[in-house]
Amino acid sequence: MKEKIKALLDEIRGLNATRVEEVEALRIKFLSKKGEVSVLFNEFRNVANEEKREVGQLLNELKNEAQDKINSLKEHLSDAAGQTEKSDLTRSAEPIRLGTRHPLSLVKNEIVDIFSRIGFTIAEGPEIEDDWHVFSALNFAPEHPARDMQDTFFIEQNPDVVLRTHTSSVQTRVMTKQKPPIRMLFPGRVYRNEAISYRAHCFFHQVEGLYIDKDVSFADLKQALMYFAKEMFGESTEIRLRPSYFPFTEPSAEMDISCNLCGGKGCPFCKHTGWVEILGCGMVDPNVLENCGIDSKIYSGYAFGMGIERITNLKYQVKDLRMFSENDVRFLEQFKAAY
Ligand code: DAH
Repeated sequence: MKEKIKALLDEIRGLNATRVEEVEALRIKFLSKKGEVSVLFNEFRNVANEEKREVGQLLNELKNEAQDKINSLKEHLSDAAGQTEKSDLTRSAEPIRLGTRHPLSLVKNEIVDIFSRIGFTIAEGPEIEDDWHVFSALNFAPEHPARDMQDTFFIEQNPDVVLRTHTSSVQTRVMTKQKPPIRMLFPGRVYRNEAISYRAHCFFHQVEGLYIDKDVSFADLKQALMYFAKEMFGESTEIRLRPSYFPFTEPSAEMDISCNLCGGKGCPFCKHTGWVEILGCGMVDPNVLENCGIDSKIYSGYAFGMGIERITNLKYQVKDLRMFSENDVRFLEQFKAAY
């Protein structure tokens, strides 16, 4: 009996396993009800009385060692499993959550990119402006009803200081400082005193375009705008220019594109007309050129202005303008594009 126990002890001390199933097989072999250790316990009754003490101790030792061994094998294997998981070199590094660009930035960048391909460069101007740059230089006479077209935020202490209502003010700044030819784009934020709703906000974004040179004609304007429309909304897009009025352009027009949702057939989005308005434009009024120190007998030019929110709505069908400024990541994360 003693020899048997010692042999088993040696066997158990030398045990090893590389898989969890092997450990389980060892547990059954030694520790289950019919396992080798239990069998010895059953035989214990036959041990002579004078040996019972010694054999009993050995048996307990055997049982404890077997249990410890099996437990430690199990632990070792699960540790190893954890280890390999932690050090799996094929796994990608810590996932880095990339931010996304704001949809208005994406669209602004795309507009800038399209016009830069036909030679437009960029300038920016201040959001806090004076009356002259926003209105007077652009042919809005004092008390001219056209000033009412834009609900201006004035500063109480000084009515000469305004938050710009359109990026056309940057035209004034550039034309007073630069000599033609000027072929530039002015993106930026503008402010109007409007009640906030799904379709209006007290601030929004525009891109203004200006081209001043000798012999610039309305045909040049139309060509540039058609190029833009097709690049932005697809080759099959058509444009139409409707006569309109702006104090700073003469003649003035508003441009529609064929509805990019229904392809011009008519749908609820274009109110079944097949057309959607996207911008205002025209030939820079000679008065404006003169106000800015450019000789209108030598130079002519065109200008256009569009709302970035408007273009973004057309591209992505964002129904509620407020989404653009609420910073809800569930909304923002949906915009993944090349720009
Ligand atoms: N400034 C106009 C607005 O905010 C948009 C605009 C119309 C700009 C015609 C232009 C233009 O340059 O020629 O409503």
